[in-house]
Amino acid sequence: MADTESQRGRLVVVSNRIPKGDVPAGGLVFALHEALRGSGGLWIGAAAPTPTAEDGLTSIGSGNYDRATFALSDAEYEGYYLGYANSVLWPLFHHRPDLLQIGEGDFDAYVTVNRRVARAIANTVGPDDLIWIQDYHFLMVAHELRAMGLHNRIGIFLHIPFPSPTDIMALPQVAMMPAWLAAHDVVGLQTTRDVTSAAEMLRHDTKTQTLGQGAWSREGRVFSVLNFPIGIDAAGFEASAARAPAPDLQMAPNAPLLLGVDRLDYTKGLVHRFEAFDAYLSARDDASPRPTFLQIAPPSREDVEAYQDIREELERTAGSINGAHADLDWTPLRYVRRHVPRDRVAGLLRRADVALVTPLADGMNLVAKEFVAAQDGADPGVLILSHFAGASEQLKDALLVNPFDTASFARAIDEAVNMPLEERCARHAALRKVVFSTDIAWWMSSFIRSLRNSTPAAPAPWGNMEIS
Ligand code: G6P
Repeated sequence: MADTESQRGRLVVVSNRIPKGDVPAGGLVFALHEALRGSGGLWIGAAAPTPTAEDGLTSIGSGNYDRATFALSDAEYEGYYLGYANSVLWPLFHHRPDLLQIGEGDFDAYVTVNRRVARAIANTVGPDDLIWIQDYHFLMVAHELRAMGLHNRIGIFLHIPFPSPTDIMALPQVAMMPAWLAAHDVVGLQTTRDVTSAAEMLRHDTKTQTLGQGAWSREGRVFSVLNFPIGIDAAGFEASAARAPAPDLQMAPNAPLLLGVDRLDYTKGLVHRFEAFDAYLSARDDASPRPTFLQIAPPSREDVEAYQDIREELERTAGSINGAHADLDWTPLRYVRRHVPRDRVAGLLRRADVALVTPLADGMNLVAKEFVAAQDGADPGVLILSHFAGASEQLKDALLVNPFDTASFARAIDEAVNMPLEERCARHAALRKVVFSTDIAWWMSSFIRSLRNSTPAAPAPWGNMEIS
């Protein structure tokens, strides 16, 4: 860590997922790895579940920064991770209250784990350390830390969207949310849309007053709710895409490659995407080069029923599309469920003529930014981006689509495949500027600057909230 940084206290980051090996795979974890590499500090995350769980932290490595895990019992993993985090908060924050599964005892497990994490942090931080909490797994940690009397600066960054005022009513603990948020100094969200939703919720709380410019006050505490769109290591990704060997896809040289890379999740709009590709195939001129759409979608959270359902639906749809359009020497849709290493994904993103990033709801979506960084500026591909990805607030020169409108989505695919070079270059240059100027280092320094400049937590009495 640089001298000036260490004199100002260490950075302590907490996220549920933490890389156990050397190279993290992608998404949030890769972004945090890149961010911590420059600043140093301590990264705390969940250990693999075991039959019983003790308090405290276990060191799992050090280098540019230290890593440590907190324990989780099998029962806590079910209640806190599969249950409250991924069957309540995740669907709700992605505008899918219809998928909520409110399990008896799941919130209690969430409280237990949030308290354990708070105790572990309280036992390890010095008074000048900055605490930076990541994502929806730990909405209560700051509140617990204040109850323990900690006055450190605490920030949280939510990587997922903030729910609308109507959706959030479906959360049994909705009344506690303003107090949870107010326990931080800075609440970071991805987009201005998210900030508007959070402001709506806070305006309905009689104990919270707006101070303007993203600042709020609640029971004597001042806190900010601001947006910090997360970025990627653009220069690093561009270099690794350029270095990656050309993928051997066994396609005709002039055949267009359309690419999607997503975790298999119902928020990603994969069925809608497949249906739009189906409509595009039905309408395309048979004499034009035959396209291939490669969708990489490794499964996740497989013990949650909604994830089993989406997988079945997707596989049925893929089979029926290939059944309708494939020929003896052509499979238009290739669906790959296995995990593909990051350097190979970089090579594919460079090779792709069209990237399909079309979620139904998404905090940001870093694949959109990786595609832009990976492309060759002299002959770039086209990004098709959903209005519902947080990235659409920044990447306005993509072809923006509504994934629910199959016919216009299919026309956008046709437009992307046939876009003239000049237009592709102009769009790509504009997108590249955004991706490189708001990269991961920019994201991290904007958030940390805001946290350092925030008013230190007042040593006011802070009652423990009653949890039934
Ligand atoms: C999203 C969430 C992250 C999460 C990741 C992978 O990006 O915002 O917090 O780590 O998905 O999900 P998983 O449940 O496998 O950690």
